[in-house]
Amino acid sequence: MLPKVQIIKVLGNLTLSIIVGGQYGDEGKGKITSWFAKNTKLDAVVRAGTGPNAGHTVVVDGTVFKLRIIPSGFFADAKIYIGAGMLVTEKIFHEEVELTNIKDRIFLDHNTGVITEEHVASERADNHLMKNIGSTGSGCGTANVDRIRRKLKVAHEYESLVPYITNVSHELNAILDRGGNILIEGSQATFLSLYHGNYPYTTSKDVSAAGALSDVGIGPTRVDEVILVLKSFVTRVGAGELNGEISEDEVRANGWEEFGTVTGRLRRAAPFDYDLARRAVSINGATKIALTKVDILYPDVSGKTDQNDLTPDALEFIKSIEEATKVPVRYISTGPAANELIVRKTN
Ligand code: GTP
Ligand code: IMP
Ligand code: MG
Repeated sequence: MLPKVQIIKVLGNLTLSIIVGGQYGDEGKGKITSWFAKNTKLDAVVRAGTGPNAGHTVVVDGTVFKLRIIPSGFFADAKIYIGAGMLVTEKIFHEEVELTNIKDRIFLDHNTGVITEEHVASERADNHLMKNIGSTGSGCGTANVDRIRRKLKVAHEYESLVPYITNVSHELNAILDRGGNILIEGSQATFLSLYHGNYPYTTSKDVSAAGALSDVGIGPTRVDEVILVLKSFVTRVGAGELNGEISEDEVRANGWEEFGTVTGRLRRAAPFDYDLARRAVSINGATKIALTKVDILYPDVSGKTDQNDLTPDALEFIKSIEEATKVPVRYISTGPAANELIVRKTN
């Protein structure tokens, strides 16, 4: 493990970084964010994306947290923000604030949208969304319909949320003006984007890196790094295309089985898709790639933290991704825990 100062140097100036999924979600953005939270100096960690349809899994000092609203970097010594473009439910928000013990340093924008039980019920009663699209049934889509109709109630209208309210855009820009470091954690992923994804098999808004900036109120000229998270194989929950999809039996035989954090559904799976990765790099303007679950394809690298421990076949796989995308694979995740990661120094 490198000392902190050295790691910050390796990463360069990370004033504003966005972490974004490059496939269909569940790439392990939570894990990558948790590594940054542990190993870099952050002033703010900000959650962008749709809302509690997401499920991030974070393992901190042996404890597993499954989070739907609070960002995976919650344990950084930083302020935690939820942008105006996000959706929350009062119940899940309060439960997760309690679970993560961050009551005194979590903030919501006054315009963060609020999902009600009626939104959840009407989404679950919507056959098109539930059956054809495979929605998570968390009420995000129906709440965003109300937002577009200018009917959705937002955070400042809820007594229980008022103590957490601030102007997130204003505070984040002030942190950047002071030279502070911000990490924006996107959720869902490029090909679930309403605009750039596999429409209509998408979530209910744009969840690309540009969408994440819009969610939190920061302009594109302030971005330093866009870190695209790719998993070593591709998984998908719900309906839609999945190039090279393998059968459930093959998924199990490969040891690729994963279950949805929110829905518990067995995730569909396919081998790594280079063309998909290339397209994700373009849509997001990725500057670095973080590759997860390398230990599942190459068990010998499990838990490793030194690039010299990469096996020749793992290194060949990494180089093939760099060759296809022309973007450096800088972070290589070798297990679920925050510190199971190799920072690869190539240039
Ligand atoms: P979404 O917001 O839903 O896209 O979530 P996510 O991208 O944070 O991923 P999610 O937590 O849903 O799923 C990833 C799973 O892989 C979790 O169970 C993680 O603990 C696990 N994981 C992440 N990185 C690695 C890794 O490098 N190796 C192994 N073995 N597991 C990993
Ligand atoms: P919705 O956003 O819940 O309506 O779901 C629409 C589609 O996006 C469905 O195929 C879901 O499975 C998928 N989806 C939404 N959020 C996530 C996520 O965080 N990870 C993976 N898939 C997601
Ligand atoms: Mg997930």
